[in-house]
Amino acid sequence: MTIGVVVLAAGQGTRMRSALPKVLHPLAGRPLIHWVLDALDAAEAAATVVVVGHGAEAVGAALPAGVDTAVQPERRGTGDAAAIGIAGLPPECDTVLVACGDTPLLSREAVADLVAAHRAAGTTGTVLTAVADDAGSYGRIVRDEVGLVAAIVEARDADEAQLSIGEFNAGLYVYDRASLEDALAGLGTENAQGELYLTDAVASGGSLGALVAASIEVAAGVNDRVDLAACESVVQDRLRHAAMLAGVSMPDPSAVYLDAQVTYDPDAVLWPGVHLRGACHVGEGAQVGPDVVAEDTRLGAGCVVRAAHLVGADVGDGCSVGPFAYLRPGARLEAGAKAGTYVELKNATLGRGAKVPHLSYIGDATVGEGSNIGAGNITANYDGFRKHRTRVGARVRTGSDCVLVAPVTIGDDAMTGAGSILTDDVPPGALGIARARQTNIEGFTEKAAARARAASEAEQAGGTTE
Ligand code: UD1
Ligand code: CA
Repeated sequence: MTIGVVVLAAGQGTRMRSALPKVLHPLAGRPLIHWVLDALDAAEAAATVVVVGHGAEAVGAALPAGVDTAVQPERRGTGDAAAIGIAGLPPECDTVLVACGDTPLLSREAVADLVAAHRAAGTTGTVLTAVADDAGSYGRIVRDEVGLVAAIVEARDADEAQLSIGEFNAGLYVYDRASLEDALAGLGTENAQGELYLTDAVASGGSLGALVAASIEVAAGVNDRVDLAACESVVQDRLRHAAMLAGVSMPDPSAVYLDAQVTYDPDAVLWPGVHLRGACHVGEGAQVGPDVVAEDTRLGAGCVVRAAHLVGADVGDGCSVGPFAYLRPGARLEAGAKAGTYVELKNATLGRGAKVPHLSYIGDATVGEGSNIGAGNITANYDGFRKHRTRVGARVRTGSDCVLVAPVTIGDDAMTGAGSILTDDVPPGALGIARARQTNIEGFTEKAAARARAASEAEQAGGTTE
């Protein structure tokens, strides 16, 4: 038995009411179809074809390597889509596994169980089913007297008695290829939706066995955003559980959101309001949150990150970030560095132990080991046309409220005076100061007050006509 997998993903997903093709909607940060393809790996198929149509280009571009596509030109139903997908499988595939691209909770176990059940049963096909009190909009499984599937009736085509059936179609089928091809070729559209139903073909193309899934969750189809949110909640719970069992503390797990790619080391603590998106890593003993959004960011061992937003950043071991810091792509903190309150970093490296404690923008810059950037420093990195770099050496101390006008270099062990606008390099060990000298005008306040008094007396003496 050589299996070829066909995934149906051409539908518009009308009920999503979205410009984004349904199968690309994210679940824990990954497109729905990736979840389905992961589970389908368990079939050890010789080939996989995804049937695309609505948003074909975008869906095709999002697929992993090794997956082929076939285009369904018109949305004529799941039966039409399946036929197009099967035609794209190589001839050596004598058995097909057809799945829907919108069932993201499908598990590897369910796929393996269905394939094993099919091998053992000797029927023409086997469908995965689940049982619910109310099977809602799913297709109902009508069994015959020996327990084979006599029909799959779509909810919209079902009568009252059929609607009361709890067993429903999970949308995953293993089938003899030649028999399914024949059945699909003979399909008609006499149904409520005027579509070619794959369900009719699998029920009529030969003997159809059914395997009831061990858990109802694997059958969940995403048709609208309510379904999507329900799946997200299931996946979030799983990801939180896995993280906690791996040694991550969460005082309130329901207030922590994890993407599927997030990795972590033990003894990290994720406080409420933490959202880790994309490929984040949380190092051993890191304290993250409350209120941290991090995307594609590494948080090193023992770092402390409070109330911060980080995108594409790399935070080294023992660093401190926030509260109220914004680390943008290319922000890199080496061990023990600090990006404090109201600090924005972009494409900038802080060397070991370097500190930017307050109210600063550091962009396109390197700050050397052990340097301290004074409160309110700004790198003026953009001249309106091009970006330029600022280089701050090691053990530098800049005064408060300096503007470092790039390109500019501050040498090792140098200092800058508060309020300086530094357009020229400062040599190592020097003090760079660039501001107007202060002048004090003695007795100014008293003289000014006397002038004001005299003016108002003159006004009163002259009288006013209005
Ligand atoms: C389908 C099944 C239903 C089952 C449910 C499981 C049919 C007729 N019904 O219903 O019995 O309980 O899945 O989730 O098969 N698609 C195409 N081309 C098309 C139409 C659909 O590629 O012309 C794709 C969709 O993108 C989707 C999948 O097929 O990924 C299923 O289509 P959908 O419209 O969601 O079917 P359901 O109404 O959920
Ligand atoms: Ca569906």
